[in-house]
Amino acid sequence: MSSNVKAWRASIVHSLADPAEVGLDASYEYLADGLLVTENDRITGLGYARDLLPTLPEDAEIVECPNSLITPGFIDTHIHFPQTDMIASYGEQLLDWLNNYTFPAEKRFAESHHADQVADTFLNELLRNGTTTALVFGTVHKASVDAFFKAAEQRNLRMICGKVMMDRNAPDYLTDTAESSYDDSRELIERWHNKGRLHYAVTPRFAPTSSPEQLNAAARLLGEYPDLYLHTHLSENSQECEWVQALFPDSKNYLDAYDQHNLLTERSVFAHGIHLCDQEFKRLHDTGSAIAFCPTSNFFLGSGLFNLPKAEEHKVNVGLGTDVGAGTSFSLLQTLNEAYKAMQLQGAKLHPLKSLYLATLGGAKALRLDDRIGSLAVGKEADFVVLDCESTPLMKHRMQYAETLDEKLFVLMMLGDDRAVRYTISAGNVVHDRDM
Ligand code: GUN
Ligand code: ZN
Repeated sequence: MSSNVKAWRASIVHSLADPAEVGLDASYEYLADGLLVTENDRITGLGYARDLLPTLPEDAEIVECPNSLITPGFIDTHIHFPQTDMIASYGEQLLDWLNNYTFPAEKRFAESHHADQVADTFLNELLRNGTTTALVFGTVHKASVDAFFKAAEQRNLRMICGKVMMDRNAPDYLTDTAESSYDDSRELIERWHNKGRLHYAVTPRFAPTSSPEQLNAAARLLGEYPDLYLHTHLSENSQECEWVQALFPDSKNYLDAYDQHNLLTERSVFAHGIHLCDQEFKRLHDTGSAIAFCPTSNFFLGSGLFNLPKAEEHKVNVGLGTDVGAGTSFSLLQTLNEAYKAMQLQGAKLHPLKSLYLATLGGAKALRLDDRIGSLAVGKEADFVVLDCESTPLMKHRMQYAETLDEKLFVLMMLGDDRAVRYTISAGNVVHDRDM
């Protein structure tokens, strides 16, 4: 019988912990000439090639990857699959952008045929960019979520998605009711939650588009099923924040509008969190909730700068999000490029090892999936990427002068994009091969 053992030889790096907690040196493991061994869907070996090569079974397939760096698959903690249709739409900040571009595009997802096509394009794009897990918004339509999960299941990807709940302040063609959103979400949870590698996220769009009754319905779902996610937006744009204060006059702050409806849990992920006060950071920490930091979106919509050092000070879990289609790239490498600039504008630094953490293990921790993904520890699911350190003429030129791992990583993050992703592997399967 064949062994199904496959070994990938390259430089290998992965995070072991948050540099903010353990310091840079203890935060990672690096193997200059490493071997990553998989058997079926799992990682079964990680070490120096010279040590592990002699231990492989005779029929093991060995993939030599010169000038490459293997990292865990990237984890996108906030993205909208229906917005693949209107990424790069000109000229507006959040609220006008939603009305002028987003809502009309999302209308089309009432049609299964359209949803199926976009789900396919969207997943191809994620995998081309090395993203193996994402927390994904659908639309208000059940068909959008069925299409997404069907496509993810076919590829055996670890993915999280949910139907948007939205019962006010949006066009009629995109609204549900507190009751119908509860019923529809419940039906989708029964169909998809914890099926294979899939998980469900209860997804009220944001406080302005959900009545208090609908937020209560969302909380009821969280109480009825174990391990559900809560996925929404928080404190992204100043006008939005003022609107929330007017709609929820009894809330102490934006986050409190969700808190008063019992939506802060260990599996709650809030996108953005640009305009948070200390009290909100503290409450996020105390409830184990996470923030998705989405710099390309925050720049694109002119929303502001996320205060990562403040989140670290309060020990709030943070993952990285592209937030396509307000985000301008599916690439978490490009997203890290913009994250670096967001820190520069605040007089702070974003070390490449912290960036690696945010895109991998930090995202896994934010999603409470760090026992399965996010690093290359033996026993974890075989979700990883092979990055080509010479993916463009400029990158190849610049890499000649990159002497340390930190430098190499930084160049990859500043100059890299989908072209740098040579292979994407999910559950041991090659799900993207750039050169095929
Ligand atoms: N807030 C409410 N809906 C959205 C959305 O679709 N994108 C972004 N960036 N913010 C939102
Ligand atoms: Zn978003």
